Amino acid sequence: MGNRSCHSTDINNNNNNTTNNYIISQNDDEILRHLTCRDAVKAKELSVISFPVYYPMHYFVDSFNNKKLYFSVGILSKFEQDLLGFMIALPNYTEDEFRMQFYSEPEKALINRFNSKIAYIASIAVHPKSMRRGYGTILINALIDACMKWESKPGAIFLHVKSDNEKAIKFYEKTGFIQDSFIKE
Ligand SMILES: CC(C)(COP(=O)(O)OP(=O)(O)OC[C@H]1O[C@@H](n2cnc3c(N)ncnc32)[C@H](O)[C@@H]1OP(=O)(O)O)[C@@H](O)C(=O)NCCC(=O)NCCS
Repeated sequence: MGNRSCHSTDINNNNNNTTNNYIISQNDDEILRHLTCRDAVKAKELSVISFPVYYPMHYFVDSFNNKKLYFSVGILSKFEQDLLGFMIALPNYTEDEFRMQFYSEPEKALINRFNSKIAYIASIAVHPKSMRRGYGTILINALIDACMKWESKPGAIFLHVKSDNEKAIKFYEKTGFIQDSFIKE
């Protein structure tokens, strides 16, 4: 494992709206919708192609099944043949007690700064054939839109990215994230 940096973005200036339905939005070519455990195989396949990190199958099944803890969205091609991209996030990061034991010191400081009201992007991936078409940005915006509607609205969204993942870092910076800290592993 390489080093990682911790990025966050302040969401308080965003006023967009989405529906709360299973389908969030669609056009003639794509559907943006919440994912279910039936999407786990496709998400796993996409993660193998796109991710620099290995995720076991149960990660997807557990995340897609647990709607209380996780916000999981995907972009699918028309008629849902292909999963073009997906994101798994925790709207209330500190609700996941299992993760607490792994908090780094910079992470604890970030969480305290936002009074524990902080969302976390656990994973985001777009199929290599579909990169640079704005799908990653759509997934981030879906999370921001959802955060703005929650009663216990998080003050920030944060994530970890490997410090050698230059493409992803450029993407996060373009979508409004700033580097908060650097974690040596
Ligand atoms: C990071 C990732 C999700 C971005 O998805 P995407 O759909 O290609 O991103 P977008 O099309 O919304 O890009 C938005 C902007 O981010 C920047 N960006 C995205 N990919 C970039 C790249 N490869 N190189 C440089 N800048 C990039 C650009 O400024 C881009 O705008 P532009 O295309 O108008 O110049 C995608 O590259 C990916 O799945 N990577 C592999 C998985 C991964 O590393 N995930 C993150 C783990 S922490």
